[in-house]
Amino acid sequence: MDYFSTLSFLFPILLALAYTTIVSGRRKSQLPPGPFPLPIIGNLLHLSDNPHQSLATLAKRYGPLMSLRFGTRTSIVVSSPDIAKDFFQTHDHLFSGRPVPDSVRVVDHDNYSLVWLPTGNQWQRLRRISKEYLFSVRRLDASEHIRQQKELFIAGIDTTSSTIEWAMVELIHNPHILEAARNPRLLGAKKMHKSFVMYGQWGVTQKFDIYDPDKFIPERFLEGKIDYKGQSFELIPFGAGRRSCPGINIAHRMLHIILGSLIREFDWKLEENLRAQDMNMEEKFGLTLQRKLPLMAIPLRFK
Ligand code: HEM
Repeated sequence: MDYFSTLSFLFPILLALAYTTIVSGRRKSQLPPGPFPLPIIGNLLHLSDNPHQSLATLAKRYGPLMSLRFGTRTSIVVSSPDIAKDFFQTHDHLFSGRPVPDSVRVVDHDNYSLVWLPTGNQWQRLRRISKEYLFSVRRLDASEHIRQQKELFIAGIDTTSSTIEWAMVELIHNPHILEAARNPRLLGAKKMHKSFVMYGQWGVTQKFDIYDPDKFIPERFLEGKIDYKGQSFELIPFGAGRRSCPGINIAHRMLHIILGSLIREFDWKLEENLRAQDMNMEEKFGLTLQRKLPLMAIPLRFK
């Protein structure tokens, strides 16, 4: 038998072997249901360019707890607030580790960074230090004036900057809300500092009346009826449980100061005279949900 005939003879056998190994592996490990994984690439083809939307579609078919496989790794996808609570609060000691990418290991971040350390003593020490010395309400109050005069346009990290960009996009896209946000009679300066504008939790929140992420309705966050700080599992943009975001207080303040200044100080014109209703509102998946096209808007001094 020549090389190619041997290969064409062996290939279907290898494929069948891989298939049965995966299927029996899934049965034995009693993983939650999920789409059938192909050898090597697993469920990669089940994800589109917008994986958050693909996961929501898959969850409709396989239920609120499903398993997916990517390469050698199995992922469990939770699509229900009650199950999320079990994972992130009740049993969070079991699920508080993070897979560390090789790129992070190369620069030793897994040994020193709060984000990548396992939940041991060193992680606990860093968490306590950041809570007491960096992000406590007292410390933030003391440094408020610096942020107001200087930290204004420096949106620390990806999460904060993309939240601001999305908020600006929605405000420009909905000029009546931008106008309302400027008008203290409509939103109220006191109430404004309690509100928070964000997109997230795409699949889960779509199911709940409380938060439909496709609609920009910032006033629903007024009166503090919706908790976004990790207690109400319908909406946990900062995570929940022991690995939840320690920067929540500073993010809350930075977002309000930056967004408030951008709204109050400037009027906004879209590049090339694009009309608000013609804006591209598509998203691009990444570490955070970015915009597909960055917002290009020209600030005009607000009269
Ligand atoms: C809109 C802004 C922000 C959002 C939406 C956000 C969201 C998150 C989320 C979802 C997590 C992971 C939680 C989990 O795994 O359960 C996280 C972790 C973290 N965030 Fe934020 N964050 C924001 C701003 C910030 C800021 C401003 C800082 C610091 C100045 C910060 C520092 C951290 C750190 C250090 C962790 C890792 C904590 C740990 O693993 O123990 N975040 N954040």
